[in-house]
Amino acid sequence: MSVKIIGIESSCDDTSAAVVVDGTIMSNVIAGQDVHREYGGVVPELASRAHQQNIVPVVDVALRNAGLSKGDISAVGFTRGPGLMGSLLVGTSFSKGFALARDIPLIEVNHLHAHIMVHFMKEPGIDPVFPEVPFICLLVSGGHTQLVMVRDHLSMDIIGLTIDDAAGEAFDKCARIMGLPYPGGPWIDRYARKGNPRAYTFPRPSADGLNYSFSGLKTSFLYFLRDREKKESGFMERNINDLCASLQYTIVEILLDNLVRASVKTGINKIALAGGVAANSCLRESVKCYGQKYNWQVFLPKPSYTTDNAAMIAITAYYKYLEKDFSSQSIVPEARFSFNA
Ligand code: KG4
Ligand code: ZN
Repeated sequence: MSVKIIGIESSCDDTSAAVVVDGTIMSNVIAGQDVHREYGGVVPELASRAHQQNIVPVVDVALRNAGLSKGDISAVGFTRGPGLMGSLLVGTSFSKGFALARDIPLIEVNHLHAHIMVHFMKEPGIDPVFPEVPFICLLVSGGHTQLVMVRDHLSMDIIGLTIDDAAGEAFDKCARIMGLPYPGGPWIDRYARKGNPRAYTFPRPSADGLNYSFSGLKTSFLYFLRDREKKESGFMERNINDLCASLQYTIVEILLDNLVRASVKTGINKIALAGGVAANSCLRESVKCYGQKYNWQVFLPKPSYTTDNAAMIAITAYYKYLEKDFSSQSIVPEARFSFNA
């Protein structure tokens, strides 16, 4: 009998539900939350309220799009953390209720593990190309930046991580300095296409080993802009394309320099990207160029599966289901959930 999983994602500001049947994505529905735009970042209380309103209709549409009803579902996978506590609580409580009502297994999923698992998804009518394990995944999101050694679907180790801000945070905070809307990453990506990546140079903060540091970059970007604005009023507006391109280029170079080190250190040349920042066009193009230079085999997720979605939760839950790795009804969400896949 086929295994039909419903996945629920509510860690931040996207309410999402997806259905996976035998490892193939049959539906993936995402309701974003525009309510945060005017605040320049996610407001936790507003996020929880919006999840509460969205979750039932989102699940209904995900089931309908997959051509299934609640009674067909074999198990419920949900994001246990990391994320905003109020947001996680909505998805967790909903999933516990669903599993209890249908008397089916409940499966907790680590959100970061799930971002990487997009590399093991199948889509209807598309021949899947899964990376062979072991491979190194650069996981770059709004809250995390990690280099992960992927040994198997359910066995992964962090080999490097940021000691302060995440790469997505660097994009978002610098975008905010320039007065761009939240989330700023996609806006910087857009302006950068028309700019010169070598117009300005910004310092590259370093960290020990395979770790990252981004907070210094944000500070130096802020001071640079302040100084130039003082000298030339309107500097930022006139040079926004070059500023975005130079900043983006710096972030991408920082990310990829460590990836090269990780590949050399481990002897692994299969390289993957995951997380929201993996949608960045410069990062995607640059990793392909590095791939040619260093003889890497590069795996890029579809841009639509880089940012938060429940398909990644459902696919992770599917592999956990095969191992009968189930959770109890007493499980609680974890805002700071260590990555121990
Ligand atoms: O993975 P994600 O959806 O949420 C977290 O788990 O954090 O990542 C969101 C992050 C935000 O910081 C957003 O600015 C960034 O991904 N992002 C991008 C792009 N698209 C999304 N950053 C740079 N370029 C993009 N095209
Ligand atoms: Zn995420």
